[in-house]
Amino acid sequence: MRVLSVASEIAPLVKTGGLADVTGALPAALAGVGVHMRSLVPGYPAVMAALQEAEAVHAFDDLFGGPAVLLQGRGAGLDLLVIDAPHLYGRPGNPYLGPDGRDWPDNPERFAALSWAGAHVAAHGAGGWRPQVLHGHDWQAGFMTEYLPRMGGADVRTVLTIHNIAFTGSTDPGRLHSLRLDPARFYSEGYEFWGGISALKAGLMGADALTTVSPSYADELMTPEFGMGLDGVMRHRQAALTGILNGIDEQAWDPATDPAILSFTDPAGKAAAKVALQAELGLPQAEGPLCVIVSRMTHQKGLDLVLETLPALMAAGGQLAVLGSGDPGLEQAFRQAAADPNVAVRIGYDEAFSHRLIAGGDAILVPSRFEPCGLTQMYGLRYGTIPVVALTGGLADTVINASPAGLARGVATGIQFAPVTAVALRGALMRLATLYADRDTWSRMQANAMAHPVGWGQSARAYADLYARLTHPS
Ligand code: ADP
Ligand code: GLC
Repeated sequence: MRVLSVASEIAPLVKTGGLADVTGALPAALAGVGVHMRSLVPGYPAVMAALQEAEAVHAFDDLFGGPAVLLQGRGAGLDLLVIDAPHLYGRPGNPYLGPDGRDWPDNPERFAALSWAGAHVAAHGAGGWRPQVLHGHDWQAGFMTEYLPRMGGADVRTVLTIHNIAFTGSTDPGRLHSLRLDPARFYSEGYEFWGGISALKAGLMGADALTTVSPSYADELMTPEFGMGLDGVMRHRQAALTGILNGIDEQAWDPATDPAILSFTDPAGKAAAKVALQAELGLPQAEGPLCVIVSRMTHQKGLDLVLETLPALMAAGGQLAVLGSGDPGLEQAFRQAAADPNVAVRIGYDEAFSHRLIAGGDAILVPSRFEPCGLTQMYGLRYGTIPVVALTGGLADTVINASPAGLARGVATGIQFAPVTAVALRGALMRLATLYADRDTWSRMQANAMAHPVGWGQSARAYADLYARLTHPS
């Protein structure tokens, strides 16, 4: 089975969040189940620098405002097709934001070009290789289903994965021509969305199959609360939608071999990692649990609720260590919170430090208002760092709550709370402190967490089955 993945990020080459982790991990996971996935990515400077054995396989005379070359090659162990188009992607740093921290004004065209190139490869092939399935991710790949039929490729099936429906790739209708869209399809069955243009809507309406990154989020997407104005579209396409849980990269996130930490294989071994982390951060020894957070700082992630509940955590003898960046107001508020000797905050992006935090913490907090899947709670599980999570999306699907029932059966791996309010989070933190003080129950939860499957095995098979169903309908 040949599949072309189309995405704006891919780890380890370019990453702003979990999307990159997933697109970076899927090819290897799928190779194990007979799927050859090649990944189409924009030729950002970091991608161009990592590209090896590059070979030109196609030239576009005019790809949304300038010439472009499609390069086939390898980078970071990935089989890549790279769009070398300096006028679109020759900009260092964050793939979406300019130096002023705002979206590049031509982002609609930059990612329309990605979708265009994906459709081109699907219709005509590149370097003697043509996919049977075109698998796009998020709004940046949404227009692929608008372009593909115009280029041929009627035999190619399309899949769109929703990683976060909050990003709709919307723009004003005046851009219809610069986006090379068919004006006749500016209607509700096409890419029209509340009077504007939405790349995500185009893909949601046009793809043969839709997936999202957890079964619970698949259900939530059909509700006004989570659908972000697209819930009607999701209900309309319900039969085409499946939730397939993300996995994590079990090699990069393995406490036994992680080069960033003092390695350990069981909960008892975590103690040294905690002491090392406290020493690194200048945190005193404390009676309560050390809670950690690794997160983008946005409204989605509910970190304002952590600030609100901080006094209760401190009163329970707990500690907090945070790594993240994003919203300037949240960054500032966390910096101020670090005045407390039991709170440590680092604003920025730091892969190695994220490993040390997750290894050394007793608990990891993920109080998201919505969370399509979430990866850090799964890193926590793998490292015996108990997730304290909102009962939503993938957080609901990956954690077994320490409810009376879960504890009685001895299966709990974490703590879930609902609704997503400061009051409920405070309650969860109180439960955390109580469980932490009960050493037997706590060790049992840690062992359960570390044993919980968080790899790609089952989900890779689910994607392979989906591709097979699409290409060989029964
Ligand atoms: P989202 O994609 O919504 O940001 P996920 O939990 O799916 O949420 O993925 C976030 C990814 O980004 C994880 O791999 C996490 O470790 C990483 N990450 C987020 N913020 C930071 C940071 N400040 N430093 C290092 N890694 C980070
Ligand atoms: C998005 C979601 C996150 C998910 C990630 C990878 O960024 O916010 O929940 O884990 O995509 O699918």
